Amino acid sequence: MTDERIVSPETTDTEAIIEKSLRPQFLSQYIGQDKVKKELRIYIEAAKNREESLDHVLLYGPPGLGKTTMAMVIANEMGVNIRTTSGPAIERPGDLIAILNELEPGDLLFIDEIHRLPRVAEEMLYSAMEDFYVDIMVGQGTTAHPVHFPLPPFTLVGATTRAGMLSAPLRDRFGIISHMEYYQEKDLKEIVLRSADIFQTEIVTTGAVEIARRSRGTPRIANRLLKRVRDFAQVQADGVIDQLIADKALGLLQVDKAGLDYVDQKLIKTMIEIYGGGPVGLSTLSVNIGEETETVEDMYEPYLIQKGFLKRTPRGRIATALAYEHFGYSYQLSE
Ligand code: ADE
Repeated sequence: MTDERIVSPETTDTEAIIEKSLRPQFLSQYIGQDKVKKELRIYIEAAKNREESLDHVLLYGPPGLGKTTMAMVIANEMGVNIRTTSGPAIERPGDLIAILNELEPGDLLFIDEIHRLPRVAEEMLYSAMEDFYVDIMVGQGTTAHPVHFPLPPFTLVGATTRAGMLSAPLRDRFGIISHMEYYQEKDLKEIVLRSADIFQTEIVTTGAVEIARRSRGTPRIANRLLKRVRDFAQVQADGVIDQLIADKALGLLQVDKAGLDYVDQKLIKTMIEIYGGGPVGLSTLSVNIGEETETVEDMYEPYLIQKGFLKRTPRGRIATALAYEHFGYSYQLSE
């Protein structure tokens, strides 16, 4: 279900290829995330001046905000190679050893979804991050013994949707912890204009603003909507994207004025119509809309919370007065 959503923040394979061409290469081209950029600029310059590798970096925040892109930008700024893997791709310690074994001095190792690393692999990272070595167990039974395996200095960049899901020992080994936030509308507008330029698509600023406003603070979604609006403009108009065309195309895609798609709409409407606005438990809600609890927590709720449509309370989720208003229900405070 998630993959079919036009506003899903997850990447598809074809998108991954297109996204590459849209990706900024350096901090100066990276739009938004000003706080993260400002800090990284200083740490990168300091590390370069000392001719050392950059301290390990943890990037956390909702999906689609450019954590992978930021890792690539850091590698470019440092002038080092990047090697990329992900928590779920490392099934056994041997998978991690194979990657660590290939590192050259100064390299950047990017681990996406680092909170999903198997425990044994995570524990190997402790010494790798702190002192650049791993102890590998060789042999079996009574002949089993650890072999000390030195590593070159490297920078680990980990990405996760929730820093709270990392174990404390792993989290503590990151010298730099950066929180990626949803993008401001003005930044998304610039991203849409930049992408349209790369696509050689004509767009007026008001068209870009309309797409930006309905992209749930997420560049990956903004770029995806831009592509669909571009198709619409090409077939139904003269190819130029203006506000009217953007509005019509997004209406067709069932992306509402606040950027909510049918899953978000279903979630809020279920809360209001079936549970009187809540409080309703996360698992009950997830079953009702046919999604995993983790998906609801990581992908749908953060934006709904940020927009002020949903609140997490100790007794469950509640739909706010703003949600009632947005969907045209009358709001009565329960006693
Ligand atoms: N394309 C996607 N995300 C971007 C960003 N943050 N800056 C520039 N272009 C982008």
